[in-house]
Amino acid sequence: MDSNEVNKLLAGFLGTCFVVFSVGIVSDGLFASPAPEKPGFAIEAAEPAEGGGAAAPAAEAKPIADLLATANAETGAAIFKKCQACHSGEKGGPNKVGPDLWDIIDRPVAEHEGFAYSAGMKDFSKGGAEKWTYDNLNHFINAPKKFVKGTAMGFAGLPKDEDRANVIAYLRTLSDNPKPLPQPGASAEAKPAEGAAAAKPATGAAPAKPAEGAAPAKPAEGAAPAKPVAPAQ
Ligand code: HEC
Repeated sequence: MDSNEVNKLLAGFLGTCFVVFSVGIVSDGLFASPAPEKPGFAIEAAEPAEGGGAAAPAAEAKPIADLLATANAETGAAIFKKCQACHSGEKGGPNKVGPDLWDIIDRPVAEHEGFAYSAGMKDFSKGGAEKWTYDNLNHFINAPKKFVKGTAMGFAGLPKDEDRANVIAYLRTLSDNPKPLPQPGASAEAKPAEGAAAAKPATGAAPAKPAEGAAPAKPAEGAAPAKPVAPAQ
């Protein structure tokens, strides 16, 4: 083998290396697949709700105050028949499978005379500090076992907003002195207030912008409406 042949072989070898490496580099560049920061699929079900300002309230559970504003106690009386399998609702009525529900609104949890509550319900009552507020009732009746872990109430729950609102409106009437209804929109107002604050700097700017600014979750967007102000002045 003379040096010429050695040179050819070396050149061929180096050339091959060069080609292999360049192909590798180029294909890496072409098909770059950066490793995900978090392994697995990110399931971001909540995202759309945050993105669209208008969509946000719809995605959340409706506050009971709003639902009660349009609730019908008479319809609720019919739904209460389901509860009557286990509950009476008269003043001084008997405890059945469950305690009597007379005057239940704002009644302390697990405090009805002569009823042996489950350990789960007693825990939830925090020694009588917790009351059956409209909110608590709404969540409890929605899914009893989810809201009060270990409750003995063997009832699947009323998943429909209207059903719960109607039956709660009826429960409210089971009293000598029905408690005032909660203020509708009280909790809903807090959010638009924030959005409005972010939107203010944009006065005079396109009215579409403040709608975006109203998405309270994103301060970055809220800041954006500031820009159009300068050209506007
Ligand atoms: C299958 C029987 C059953 C049905 C149906 C039922 N409940 Fe109950 N409920 C119970 C039992 C039992 C308890 C006591 C739970 C415990 O101690 O954990 C209870 C407790 C309650 C309490 C708490 C009372 C207190 O003094 O703290 C409320 C409020 C209540 N039920 C409302 C309802 C409403 C409203 C319905 C109908 C939509 C309903 N229940 C349907 C069995 C039932």
